[in-house]
Amino acid sequence: MADRPTPIETLRAVVRFAPPVGDRTERRLRRAAGVADLRRQARRRVPRGVFDYVDGGAEDERTLRDNADAFGRITFRPRVLRDVATVDPSTTLLGRPLPLPLVLSPTGFTRILDPAGELAVARAAARAGLPYALSTLGTRSIEEVAAVSAGPKWFQLYVWRDRGLVRDLVGRARDAGYEAIVLTVDCAVFGKRERDVRRGFTLPPVVGPGTLLDGALHPAWTWDFVRAEPIRFANVVGRDVGDGARPVTLHDYVNAQFDPAVDWSDLAWLRSEWDGSLVVKGIQSVADAVLAADAGADAVMLSNHGGRQLDGAPTPIDLVAPVRDAVGGRVQLICDGGVRRGSDVVKAVARGADAAAIGRAYLYGLGAAGERGVDHVLELLGAEVRRTMALLGVADVASITPDLVSPP
Ligand SMILES: Cc1cc2nc3c(=O)[nH]c(=O)nc-3n(C[C@H](O)[C@H](O)[C@H](O)COP(=O)(O)O)c2cc1C
Repeated sequence: MADRPTPIETLRAVVRFAPPVGDRTERRLRRAAGVADLRRQARRRVPRGVFDYVDGGAEDERTLRDNADAFGRITFRPRVLRDVATVDPSTTLLGRPLPLPLVLSPTGFTRILDPAGELAVARAAARAGLPYALSTLGTRSIEEVAAVSAGPKWFQLYVWRDRGLVRDLVGRARDAGYEAIVLTVDCAVFGKRERDVRRGFTLPPVVGPGTLLDGALHPAWTWDFVRAEPIRFANVVGRDVGDGARPVTLHDYVNAQFDPAVDWSDLAWLRSEWDGSLVVKGIQSVADAVLAADAGADAVMLSNHGGRQLDGAPTPIDLVAPVRDAVGGRVQLICDGGVRRGSDVVKAVARGADAAAIGRAYLYGLGAAGERGVDHVLELLGAEVRRTMALLGVADVASITPDLVSPP
């Protein structure tokens, strides 16, 4: 009979020491198994005021929570023993082939998280082959983003009181090769984001004792922030609307500059000005989806601005099926809000969306690890979409049908 192994021999047989990873960002990313992990890392890395600006929602944040919870209320009805040796999540959106039914939604003031800001997000989106919508309130300009990204680019528009400025922005987007204008319509007045109100959060942050302490507790972010060039609303630098050179609350800026009198005739006007794809973002009812389709929109983004505007607004994922029934075939549908997993993307498609969109998910990646963090988010979501499809028994996007989710 062979001798029994000594405890040391047993240990030697099972213990493997992984080679140390020198790069801190790489170490961080290896520990981030999902978007929720990147959110936690971003929370530690950036000052609390900055994190709350990104993470927070309007008033009691019911809609913010509900957007994500609504995905949790949907369960799958998987099919088995179907050949899923090859799973292909590619699709076509606004005439463009995409590797995944996924879009990066516009987010203003992105450089507050990381100095590379919109350039980092645009480059990561282009690498992944996914559309990125640059915000009107971006901290890199239409042209700067176009210079670093050959990928599909959309430009998000708010309607300024100064319509000359709107026309100018649309012309610049056309000249720079943007494929779509995204008109955001859920921001007639600014939502009350109470985390920002409590902190007196301004853009850029005013340095006071609170911000100094917050900054001192997050030295890596602070070091990057003080070395980088000042943050501006890059699309309107030099215009008399103010470019954020002087600290301003977003609430005051939006309410002063954006026109609350915007109506459907403005959408008709925009349609006549812009011959590229037109996306209407912030549709929250079947009736308005029909009006947007009638006005010549190519796609509708069902969205409540990530719960940052009207608290108590309907959740986008629950609007997909009724809107699809009313306007499907006339416009494409994008479901925006609460997407944190590839399985959420698949649920949106099963309900009838052509694609899902993410805002905070990529911002958490950016806050946690800069540009590589955004890459990581897009890789995680892509892998999750493919895995979910395989476990559901579907090999392509056309096979993701309503019978695969409950309620359908
Ligand atoms: C920090 C932040 C800034 C945003 N800025 C804009 C903006 O400038 N224009 C816009 O149309 N939507 C803006 N949104 C809304 C997003 O485009 C998107 O609708 C929302 O983030 C989707 O919800 P999610 O974050 O749960 O994915 C912003 C969202 C966040 C979190």
